[in-house]
Amino acid sequence: MKILGILGSPRRDGNTAYLLEDLAKKLNKGNEVEIIFLKDYEISPCKECYYCVENDECSIKDDMQEMYKKLKETDVIILSSPIFMGGIASRLRAFMERTWHLRKGQLMGKIGSYIIVGRRDIGAGIHEMEEYLSRLKVKKIPGVIGYGLHKGDVKEDTEAMKDLSRLTNQIINS
Ligand SMILES: Cc1cc2nc3c(=O)[nH]c(=O)nc-3n(C[C@H](O)[C@H](O)[C@H](O)COP(=O)(O)O)c2cc1C
Repeated sequence: MKILGILGSPRRDGNTAYLLEDLAKKLNKGNEVEIIFLKDYEISPCKECYYCVENDECSIKDDMQEMYKKLKETDVIILSSPIFMGGIASRLRAFMERTWHLRKGQLMGKIGSYIIVGRRDIGAGIHEMEEYLSRLKVKKIPGVIGYGLHKGDVKEDTEAMKDLSRLTNQIINS
């Protein structure tokens, strides 16, 4: 299986990255896992030109074009983000907006899940992730929620670590 992990945190070594890397390690055997650190890419927000409505592709020629190819080629999509001001971090939000033209079932049959890390208020982030994966019409597997503020805090979240194993098994058995 091909597994694509999208890292929406600005910290490459933060809590979200820790959980995503751990999932990648667990899935590495026999699978092809790639992690995309969104901070390394130029991805503008949607400019609402509606070009994609007529053309089924995005008019903005930035690094998102490479992401469309990766999304179409992968079997599993794992989105990951910290919670910032009650929702998903802006880099992942821009990525999500830019996939509007992929909502017509082009990714149907793929598996989608997510990882979210916050200090305490994460409910809206879960809703955003669930809603987004529904829009993409992928097969959803419940995501993993981690709690932490400072780098490394999430390692102490034993529930999150246990839940990563559950997600790993569900992906492998899907
Ligand atoms: C700008 C900003 C806003 C934040 N807002 C929230 C919030 O609304 N709710 C929450 O639970 N945590 C919030 N946090 C805490 C982060 O979600 C938390 O530190 C998380 O572990 C960061 O993930 P990372 O280590 O992967 O970057 C915020 C942090 C920052 C920097």
